[in-house]
Amino acid sequence: MPQFAKSVTATVPAKVNLALGVGPLRADGYHELATVYQAVGLYDEITVSRRSAGSGITISAAGPDAESVPIDRTNLAWQAAELVSSQADAEPDVHIHIDKRIPIAGGMAGGSADAAGALLACDVLWRASLPREQMAELASELGSDIPFLLYGGTAIGTGRGENITSAMARGSYHWVFAVSDRGLPTPKVYAECDRLRTGSQVGEPTVPPSLMEALLAGDPIRVGESLVNDLQPAAISLRPELDLVLEIGNDAGALGSLVSGSGPTCAFLVADEEAALDLAVSLSASGLCSGVERATGPVGGAKLKES
Ligand code: C5P
Repeated sequence: MPQFAKSVTATVPAKVNLALGVGPLRADGYHELATVYQAVGLYDEITVSRRSAGSGITISAAGPDAESVPIDRTNLAWQAAELVSSQADAEPDVHIHIDKRIPIAGGMAGGSADAAGALLACDVLWRASLPREQMAELASELGSDIPFLLYGGTAIGTGRGENITSAMARGSYHWVFAVSDRGLPTPKVYAECDRLRTGSQVGEPTVPPSLMEALLAGDPIRVGESLVNDLQPAAISLRPELDLVLEIGNDAGALGSLVSGSGPTCAFLVADEEAALDLAVSLSASGLCSGVERATGPVGGAKLKES
């Protein structure tokens, strides 16, 4: 390994929320959550390369949806590089290349994955070696679900989703994802959730014990039965066609289905690879979604390679 790498590549997985309990709106504008994340084998690759002194940050993107990736400071990966540079006392002169495979604004933490990748890659590129807790803190500053992507696996998220405790989970799970080419902005989905709940008492969010038991047992049938997402009614209210997409999975015998995070991606848990292929064909033929992805979970968190 060269002493000073010219570039560092981070491979970061997407996530699906097996349970997403949404509590009341807090004074800081966030909602209290009780969620169970699972990292799935769908990856963005973020490569951070040195640039000459004083030349600043640039971003490029590749992949089918590359033209929708912001290449300015609004990209969380850019902000991640700035954060690490200030902590590491390094000049932020880097090019960030994002090979985008995770759906954009799809409820699978695509933008968050790029931020997590940039954080970790910059830390290695600049030999900052920031402590793990500090990295998790920077991650949570950038977004609620970014700390989880540093760890991967299956984990419980509390607070606004940034406090991570790893979950006791067995087994490997087969997922099919129905992707929409029109993303849903997360704040809009939370706001719709609040609107739909107007006048009703919202309690503290909880993780369903049945889900935790099923994960501990490694029982995909019971995991499928326990999937739950409090944001789902809001996502469907904004995109009524998602109900039809979810129905396709139910008709095809999926073990469980739900909107992934704030949507609009729909996630289906199926029994095996063959069932995943069959469902992928049905979803593609329906014309109701713009793409279909298959992946297994849980997978580990971000991985790094120097060159
Ligand atoms: O944390 P992140 O930047 O990903 O959140 C995006 C938006 O989603 C927030 O600005 C907020 O509107 C909403 N959100 C929320 N409660 C959470 C997480 C996100 O209301 N726990």
